[in-house]
Amino acid sequence: MHIRKAFESDFTSMWPIFHAVVAEGSTYVFAADASRQTAFDYWFGKDIKTYVAEDDGKIVGMYKLVANQRDRGAHVANASFMVDPAYARKGAGRTMGEHCLREAKAAGFLAMQFNFVVSTNERAVRLWQSLGFKIAGTLPKAFQHPSLGHVDAYVMHRFLDDAAN
Ligand SMILES: CC(C)(COP(=O)(O)OP(=O)(O)OC[C@H]1O[C@@H](n2cnc3c(N)ncnc32)[C@H](O)[C@@H]1OP(=O)(O)O)[C@@H](O)C(=O)NCCC(=O)NCCS
Repeated sequence: MHIRKAFESDFTSMWPIFHAVVAEGSTYVFAADASRQTAFDYWFGKDIKTYVAEDDGKIVGMYKLVANQRDRGAHVANASFMVDPAYARKGAGRTMGEHCLREAKAAGFLAMQFNFVVSTNERAVRLWQSLGFKIAGTLPKAFQHPSLGHVDAYVMHRFLDDAAN
């Protein structure tokens, strides 16, 4: 598994992954029919650092790293991750998560915060907990799950001082 910075030309490979993840509907707030332009802006908008995970030259996932807030909140990082469903549970999520923590620490961020982890997204909650994140708060019924109805979302947080370099 190789993680590298994403180029806009990678979007051709990133779009089907984005589409598959949002069409499944249980992890992100995007509508199932979110457009290519929406996806492009999400990954390549202003001040967004995006990375792809490659296996044997094939893009199998991506993540982005941004400041969670502007100005006085800019010392806390935020990140988002998507792995090709066909490539689930092969370590791409963990490899990208570890890479992201290193990048954020190297960039000087004090902490990392995920603003909206769907509480029923057990794969993500477990992965983030195993990478040192704690549930800092619960947003009651904040997510409209396609089969479960309104479910909670978590704010997850960790400081970066003890993250690996
Ligand atoms: C969450 C996601 C990034 C995990 O990526 P992945 O490549 O499948 O995960 P990994 O193979 O690296 O597994 C890492 C850990 O995730 C957890 N995990 C992964 N799949 C799991 C499953 N089916 N059930 C429970 N835990 C699971 C485990 O803790 C696992 O660690 P382990 O393999 O040591 O047990 C991926 O499933 C994904 O893109 N999901 C859709 C989008 C999403 O939810 N993004 C995160 C939003 S907060």
